[in-house]
Amino acid sequence: MNWLFRLFRSSIGCKGIMALTGIALFGFVIAHLSGNLLIFGGPDAMNAYAVSLRELGPLLWVMRLGLLATVLVHIGAAMRLTRQNTDARPVPYVRRQNVASTAASRSMMMTGLTVAAYTVFHLAHLTWGFILHDFATAVDDQGRHDVYYMVVKGFQQWWMVFLYVVAMVILAVHLRHGISSFFQTLGFNHPRWNPILEKSGIGVATLIFLGYVSIPATVFFGLVGLDGGGS
Ligand code: HEM
Repeated sequence: MNWLFRLFRSSIGCKGIMALTGIALFGFVIAHLSGNLLIFGGPDAMNAYAVSLRELGPLLWVMRLGLLATVLVHIGAAMRLTRQNTDARPVPYVRRQNVASTAASRSMMMTGLTVAAYTVFHLAHLTWGFILHDFATAVDDQGRHDVYYMVVKGFQQWWMVFLYVVAMVILAVHLRHGISSFFQTLGFNHPRWNPILEKSGIGVATLIFLGYVSIPATVFFGLVGLDGGGS
């Protein structure tokens, strides 16, 4: 256990922890997007998917707790790194670089914490059913929780679409910088590769943004409706 604290205390260890937890969260973002895109398969596809997740039983709880722990460690390591950057007393010739990295880590902290706040709102909306509660209790004709109905009714509200789109922009900005930092931590830092990695980061973040936003957008504009087709 001691080695874990030592790892956390060193800047390189913190960066490694950020990279590992970051890639795990990135994996979740991709897996969750793949599941959510089942909305385009209609109510049966989406509700059956939700049931298959519930049927994982205790394993689902292990995954949820693992996800929560990963988020907390990611935020903890980010806070330590930001503090280390701020506390650093750079000798003059490295000052410029240090100021730049502090600004970057501050903006990552802002976008990251906003994504975390959005996630709590999102859980209150679609997992706990506290927001738009009446849409969260429906069951379909097979007696399953009607996740499809809950999502479609939610995205027929303009303010919900607005909040989700803003959150997805912030998520994309966070991912774009996160992807660059990830490769830098792995040691990919070469004038020839940097522009390619930079562009790949932008490309991947844009695809994830478009994937997620396609859901509220198609519902809001009536291309996806309650019967699975347009409304
Ligand atoms: C258009 C965008 C999104 C849609 C339509 C969506 C849809 C859903 C739905 C339907 C659930 C509840 C599943 C159920 O209870 O059966 C859920 C849970 C969840 N979503 Fe999303 N989601 C979106 C974006 C995101 C994003 C961007 C994140 C993370 C940054 C996220 C994180 C989560 C988490 C952590 C859960 C809880 C999973 C669990 O209960 O085990 N979602 N989402």
